[in-house]
Amino acid sequence: MNGIQDSEPGTPDLAGFDFAQLRRFPDIEAENLFAHDATDELILTSAGSALARISDGGSLAIVGDRYGALTLGSAALHGLAGIRVNQDGLSGELALAANAQRLGLEGTFSSQPLTAELFAGANVVLWQLPRSLDELAETAELISANAAPNVQIVAGGRVKHMTLAMNTVLGNYFEQVVPGRAWRKSRPLVVTGPRADAPASSFPRSEFNQALGLTLCAHGATFAGTKLDIGTRFLLDFEPDMLPGATTAIDLGCGNGAIAAALATARPSLLVTATDQSASAVASATATAHANGLGGRVAAVRDDAMAGFEPASAELIVLNPPFHVGATVHAGIALKLFDAAARVLAPGGELWTVYNRHLDYRAQLEQRVGPTTIKGRNSKFTVALSRKAKS
Ligand SMILES: C[S@@+](CC[C@H](N)C(=O)[O-])C[C@H]1O[C@@H](n2cnc3c(N)ncnc32)[C@H](O)[C@@H]1O
Repeated sequence: MNGIQDSEPGTPDLAGFDFAQLRRFPDIEAENLFAHDATDELILTSAGSALARISDGGSLAIVGDRYGALTLGSAALHGLAGIRVNQDGLSGELALAANAQRLGLEGTFSSQPLTAELFAGANVVLWQLPRSLDELAETAELISANAAPNVQIVAGGRVKHMTLAMNTVLGNYFEQVVPGRAWRKSRPLVVTGPRADAPASSFPRSEFNQALGLTLCAHGATFAGTKLDIGTRFLLDFEPDMLPGATTAIDLGCGNGAIAAALATARPSLLVTATDQSASAVASATATAHANGLGGRVAAVRDDAMAGFEPASAELIVLNPPFHVGATVHAGIALKLFDAAARVLAPGGELWTVYNRHLDYRAQLEQRVGPTTIKGRNSKFTVALSRKAKS
């Protein structure tokens, strides 16, 4: 926790699993981006004796595994199978599958949605802690209500991202939350004792947004929660200028589905596909569409950068790209989405993008998508229109 001094308890003993063999692919790969971190090693070490007991017939659930270090580490180090795993992002899920195949560990786990079944009867849960308190609460609530009464949760995070508010949230759902000693700037938490008086489910949350005149819904891991992002708000000012007469549109990286719902509301015959690699976002966009009576015209799809969309098929794509890859600020993810838009746009199709003023993506958009004009700037954001060349 912040405020508690770091200490060096010694290197975890994880010989027997080569973390360096893990890759992030198909997520962005770069020299400063890694497929595992000290938190993975610390969680696996702290959970060592609990995992050893699992082989006698208990069950293991893992949540928030980045690229498979926790899942494949548990399988390789303890000979475990039948592991249930949830990762919100599809890139991480695909990376886990690819890593498992490379290491000959496919068949040791199943990827599952964040539901009661994921944790049903689990005796041990390994958890890379999220930074968002809402995501923490949604997951804690499901574990508390569904895991075995003797469940031992071994969680961990980077010390700089951990706050005492996280203990408070976890304390709403469990009797004991015990921080362990920090190692290489990560800290474990051992959480036990599901509370009988834990709060009932409050997800998805919903909130009426005055500026949009729409209700926004959100599960815990969704960007901006039930709020309208200020960049998105600026982008939506340009809706009247977006491809007149378009019959279909894509809200790329849809989050809570604010863009999809706003487009569908402004254009009563438009069909919108909202897409995101986050399962939480897809569920949130679906909930937002239904909350506003738009369920028949907005469909949400989980996909990694529209990989399953037909090339040259889209008339209009609207995008507020992320500029973080996990906790790291990195342009790669925005560029990946620009390339995806270039592939999926039909000739003459339009990509509308909003980005932080200091990022200056114009040259990248021009090079990757086509002729790009800046349509608006305010003190924080730029809105750009890129047109896919006709030939
Ligand atoms: C800045 S948020 C914008 C969310 C939403 N459109 C809004 O305006 O509030 C960017 C979104 O892109 C999504 N995203 C990140 N990588 C992605 C990928 N590879 N494929 C699809 N969506 C992705 C994130 O999950 C996040 O929801």
